[in-house]
Amino acid sequence: MNKADTSSSTVVIAIDGPAASGKSTVARALAAHLGYRFLNSGDLYRAITWGCLSHGVDCRDTGAVAMAVGNSHVEVGCDGTEYYPIVDGTDPRVHLRHAAVNANVSPVSAVPAVRYILSAAIRAHAQGRRTVVEGRDIGSAVFPETPYKFYIDAPAQVRQRRRRNQGQTEEIAKRDLIDSTRSTDPLTIAPGATVIDSSTLDVEGVVAAMVEKLRAQGLVFDRTRR
Ligand code: CDP
Repeated sequence: MNKADTSSSTVVIAIDGPAASGKSTVARALAAHLGYRFLNSGDLYRAITWGCLSHGVDCRDTGAVAMAVGNSHVEVGCDGTEYYPIVDGTDPRVHLRHAAVNANVSPVSAVPAVRYILSAAIRAHAQGRRTVVEGRDIGSAVFPETPYKFYIDAPAQVRQRRRRNQGQTEEIAKRDLIDSTRSTDPLTIAPGATVIDSSTLDVEGVVAAMVEKLRAQGLVFDRTRR
C-alpha cells in the first residue's frame, strides 16, 4: 500500500535535531496545522530523569538507572492533542526544564533500558493515529519506516543563544556530544530525512517548508481525523 494513502491508519511525521534547534516549536505548529497529535519524546526522557533524581538515584550509574526505570511506572497521558508523561502517577511537567534535569537527561537517555521502554511506549501511542513525533532518534530508530522525516538544525552559537534567551544557562554542547556519541540510537540524520536550517527561517517558514515537502511526497491532509 502507498504509505501516503490517507486510508492507512498510522501516519508518523518524524522530526529530529540537536538541542534548541527549534524542533519542539515547529513540531507543535506543524501538528496544529495538520490536525495531528503531537508527541515530544524529550519530555518522556526528561520525566524519567526527574523520577530518578526524585528517588536519589545516581544518574551516572547505568545499572542504578536501569533498575529504577524497571521499578517505576511510566505512562503517557494525552491533553486533547498533546501527549505528556506521567511517572508513578505524577504529572512532572513543571519540573522538566530544571537545571538538574538538564544536567542529567543525556546520561539517563543513553541507558539502553530507558530507550527500550520509551521507544515501545512511543510506538504504541502512535499506532493507528496521525502523529508528529519529535526527538533525537525518531526517524532513525523509532519509526525508520516512515517516509516523512525531517532534521531541524541551526549553528551551535544560534542554538546556545536561543537557550539563553529562554533564561537557561546550560551548555547545550555537552548534551549534544553525549546524545550524538552514545552507542544506542544516537542523534543522527536519518537516511531520507529532509534537513532544514531553522536559523534562516521563522517558525511559519519552517512549517511551510515541511508542508511543501509532505505534499510533494503525496501526503494528503485530512483534518477530520487524528
Ligand atoms: O528541548 P531540547 O531540544 O533541549 O531537548 P529535549 O527534546 O527536551 O530532549 C532532552 C534530552 O532527551 C536530549 O538531550 C536527549 O538526551 C534525550 N532524548 C533522547 O535521547 N531521545 C529522544 N528521542 C528525545 C530526547
